[in-house]
Amino acid sequence: MSSDIEALVLIDTRIDAADRAGLRGRWEFGRAMLAARDGAGRLPNGFLAELVVRTGKSRAELGHRARFAARYPTEQELAHAVSEFGSWREVVAALAIAPDAGADPGPIPAGRFATIVADPPWTFTNTATRAAAQRHYPTMTLEEIAGLDVAQHAADKAHAYLWVPSALLPDGLQVLAAWGFEYRAVITWVKPQLGLGNYFRSTTELALFGVRGGMRTRDRSLPTHFTAPRGRHSAKPAEFQELVMRASPGPYLELFARCSGLADCTCSRCRLGWAVWGNEALSA
Ligand SMILES: C[S@@+](CC[C@H](N)C(=O)[O-])C[C@H]1O[C@@H](n2cnc3c(N)ncnc32)[C@H](O)[C@@H]1O
Repeated sequence: MSSDIEALVLIDTRIDAADRAGLRGRWEFGRAMLAARDGAGRLPNGFLAELVVRTGKSRAELGHRARFAARYPTEQELAHAVSEFGSWREVVAALAIAPDAGADPGPIPAGRFATIVADPPWTFTNTATRAAAQRHYPTMTLEEIAGLDVAQHAADKAHAYLWVPSALLPDGLQVLAAWGFEYRAVITWVKPQLGLGNYFRSTTELALFGVRGGMRTRDRSLPTHFTAPRGRHSAKPAEFQELVMRASPGPYLELFARCSGLADCTCSRCRLGWAVWGNEALSA
């Protein structure tokens, strides 16, 4: 571990303005961080904390460097990034919203899960909304989402929570049925801030709740809504995961999750030990 740290500190000293906004140096630094991960995709204990002390950079900055290297894994892709971005600030902004587009998510984790949560990359028919979603990640058609073999990964008695944009509610009901769940209720995320909208300004998001094998909720006193502020684009808040865990038993599987595998990651795998799958959950 210490030789890895020394190598990273050396790279850090070479990052300066002469290197087109410091992009190459940060990319090399990020690559070295990724190479220091163990077989499960995690950095050794204390590694990041020591790097913060030795370089004087924040955890967030070091995390951005690793994500930058993961997003642009080859020299050719780095060259593309250098031509595309004018500053490190722009890269950081793009990393916060853009996906590892086109990455193969691999198979859904093996096992039969008692609770499955999914936040699919729906395709919108509304052009403006579609453009907005597709700037952030590749989208899937209704047929592709419904065609995922989710039923095979659900326990005989199971719950599903399926996030669906209100404009696509009928599609959500179709997907829930295709995955082998009977629709039972809508969970509403209430957001204190006004959002966008074609008819009404959006302040809510909806998750369809479905049941397989007639399984009841663990706690019958739970409300059908929770309140939490908006996070980064399309991120679902911790309050949702907490509600799910109060209502439904494990093991838990989150489909279309985002996991960086880094120490500052707050995804359901890193925070709660859920199984995760998605093309931005590649370290899982
Ligand atoms: C709506 S976002 C999910 C955001 C997530 N709920 C969160 O809290 O961060 C949909 C995710 O599905 C991913 N995705 C898109 N196409 C995919 C595919 N074919 N297979 C797996 N994941 C895909 C996107 O890259 C994006 O990460």
